[in-house]
Amino acid sequence: MRFVVLGAGRIGLSHVGTLKAQSGVTDLLIADLDPARAAAAAASVGSESATIDDAFASKPDGIVIAAPTSAHAELIVRAVRAGIPTFCEKPLAESLASSIALVEEVERRDVPVQIGFQRRFDAGYVEAKRALQAGDIGELRRMHLLTCDPTPPPAQYVPTSGGIYRDCHIHDFDILRWVTGREVATVFATGANRGAPFFADAGDVDESAALLTLDDGTLVTVQGSRYNGAGYDVRMELAGSLGNRSVGLDERVPLTSAEPGVSFPTESAWPNFQERFAPAYAAELARFVAVAAGETASPCTPRDALEALFIAEAAELSRAEGRPVRLDEVKR
Ligand SMILES: NC(=O)c1ccc[n+]([C@@H]2O[C@H](COP(=O)([O-])OP(=O)(O)OC[C@H]3O[C@@H](n4cnc5c(N)ncnc54)[C@H](O)[C@@H]3O)[C@@H](O)[C@H]2O)c1
Repeated sequence: MRFVVLGAGRIGLSHVGTLKAQSGVTDLLIADLDPARAAAAAASVGSESATIDDAFASKPDGIVIAAPTSAHAELIVRAVRAGIPTFCEKPLAESLASSIALVEEVERRDVPVQIGFQRRFDAGYVEAKRALQAGDIGELRRMHLLTCDPTPPPAQYVPTSGGIYRDCHIHDFDILRWVTGREVATVFATGANRGAPFFADAGDVDESAALLTLDDGTLVTVQGSRYNGAGYDVRMELAGSLGNRSVGLDERVPLTSAEPGVSFPTESAWPNFQERFAPAYAAELARFVAVAAGETASPCTPRDALEALFIAEAAELSRAEGRPVRLDEVKR
């Protein structure tokens, strides 16, 4: 099968290598607004590069969109109108209005679209969901999610990213819905500017904390940082009436115990998302190859991504106004 990757930046380059290794992928064409980036990415895996127009005209079996968030809506619409099965990185789009319009457009057509929430394919999150649904941890009483980058993204990434809640915590918001099967009722979020001025200049923050209440009353805390010096730290804790599960608590977790005699963890900390989630990216793209082949349905639809975006919107509104926000205030 022939695939196109649009956008050869941080995640695009990672997806190019992952797709190239998929057995169902025979041809890979790479396009980027910057032709030199496309050519370099193509050369790194022995593929071809093309302009964006030529990539669409090649009528591939599937398109993988890894362009900036601000370009997602336009590229997804172009792909589905051409009838091409599409994978697009999270979040769905830069604004809520364009995301809603996009979902309506996609749902009018019979073309599969998969959004890149790779945690749904990570072994730890899969096991936590299984354990909760099987009753192994009893009734869920509390949940904590953490997404911390060791270093901030490039300055030019931030203004079109949508801000830390839409860009980063959107992963936490998607996975908490997926793991619990519940909806968020209220969000009380805040943030701080402790780092580079380009975060504040873009109206964004580099430290974040939010308290969410689920529709059954479960309390959930979410915390994030763009400056987690210890390493790339993505974890989720579920605690119930019978037990708990901790996702990301492995030998590479960037934690140091203050207790005497404790040597855990024993290996070097996860440095970045590319390494931490490499198996999950491979599994989600393997699934997309199957989606594009018509063998299976999209495991993460634009509608799912919109639900996660509603939570991010509520978080941004809460942060701006300094008050708890009900989800029905932002849902349309
Ligand atoms: N799932 C994840 O873990 C994950 C991780 C990182 C980024 N992302 C998402 O992936 C997207 C890209 O992020 P990134 O960090 O790779 O950004 P990046 O800035 O490193 O790369 C984006 C690339 O897209 C190119 N580009 C810009 N406009 C384009 C267009 N219209 N068509 C084709 N290419 C275009 C740029 O020249 C650049 O090479 C963002 O939406 C981000 O939220 C997801």
